[in-house]
Amino acid sequence: MKLISLDSLEPGKQLGRPIYNEKGTLLLGAGVAVSARYIRRLREMGYTSVYVHEKGYEDIEVTDVISDKTRMEAVSTISETFDSVRGSGPRSEKVALDRSKVSGVADKIVDDLVGSGDQIMDLIDLKSFDNYTFMHSVNVSVLTVLTAVNVGKFTSLELRDIAMAALLLDIGKAHIPIEIVQKKGRLNPDEFARMKKHTAIGYEILLHKSSMKPLIASVALQHHEYYNGSGYPNALAGDKIHAWSRYTALADVYDSLTSDRSYKRRLPPLVGLEYLKLGQGTHFDPTCLDQFVSNIAPYPAASTVLLSTGETAVVVANSTQKTDRPLVRVLTTPEGKEIEKPYEIDLAKEMEITIQSVQV
Ligand SMILES: [Fe+2]
Repeated sequence: MKLISLDSLEPGKQLGRPIYNEKGTLLLGAGVAVSARYIRRLREMGYTSVYVHEKGYEDIEVTDVISDKTRMEAVSTISETFDSVRGSGPRSEKVALDRSKVSGVADKIVDDLVGSGDQIMDLIDLKSFDNYTFMHSVNVSVLTVLTAVNVGKFTSLELRDIAMAALLLDIGKAHIPIEIVQKKGRLNPDEFARMKKHTAIGYEILLHKSSMKPLIASVALQHHEYYNGSGYPNALAGDKIHAWSRYTALADVYDSLTSDRSYKRRLPPLVGLEYLKLGQGTHFDPTCLDQFVSNIAPYPAASTVLLSTGETAVVVANSTQKTDRPLVRVLTTPEGKEIEKPYEIDLAKEMEITIQSVQV
């Protein structure tokens, strides 16, 4: 598999990973050969890159940390949950939130992550403008639970509750006007002020209108608080922000930075991680940040990178030991000529060679 920019996607190429809509329904399966019409549609949807099958890259696997089935079931559950909460209206005393459905899907996320041992996030969760909200909530949950599993001090019940809290962290947006939530472009100050209310609204929905545990509701309230007290809605600082919220804040910001939005292109994982590190101790709890970044491959498999030797290479595999030193396969000479017999370099062993940049 290879990650390529949509600009270089040509008709006839086979997709490496499936494409889903905002309801978690399959639009294009892995292996489907894309037509010019599909490519146009992908561009309209806001994709800027896709995984494709490519000769010479057959053995490069992009493995998600949870199954596609679990991920899409979670997307469809969150999509339905938003629909039913929205349907209840902001003034109703109770909302129709199916708690057992959300907890069922949270269990599956935890089971997938706990069952597969030492894992690193080695793929880019590509999203479109339409499916962003729900896929984002699911990825925040996956990244938060992945971190929590690797931290190792949470019980399975706590992991399930953390997964639920992260899935529901933006549920308050169901009661924010849809034209603000789905605005294609940056929000103006008034719109942003209304958007910020999704924290308190979410807390109210979860705690009082659907009888969720207070800790789960508190993540909806606190996930935009910053470690130095400069966040919202209550300008809480340090340990006053619950640990679950400190972890979800990292996952929330990281996934949003590395996702395509209508007003910005996604950042590669390496740059997203560097951005998080700039906020160490100010926006983010330094310990939580260290724990979070160690779960993410800065150079995910199937990405093309430029080496300090001037050669280009594709990332073959990552390990949890040295996350920034993957196994790479050299494809071109420093002059850009294709190498007839590509060879591999294990950057974890060849310490004098570094990665200069990521190309897609
Ligand atoms: Fe939020």
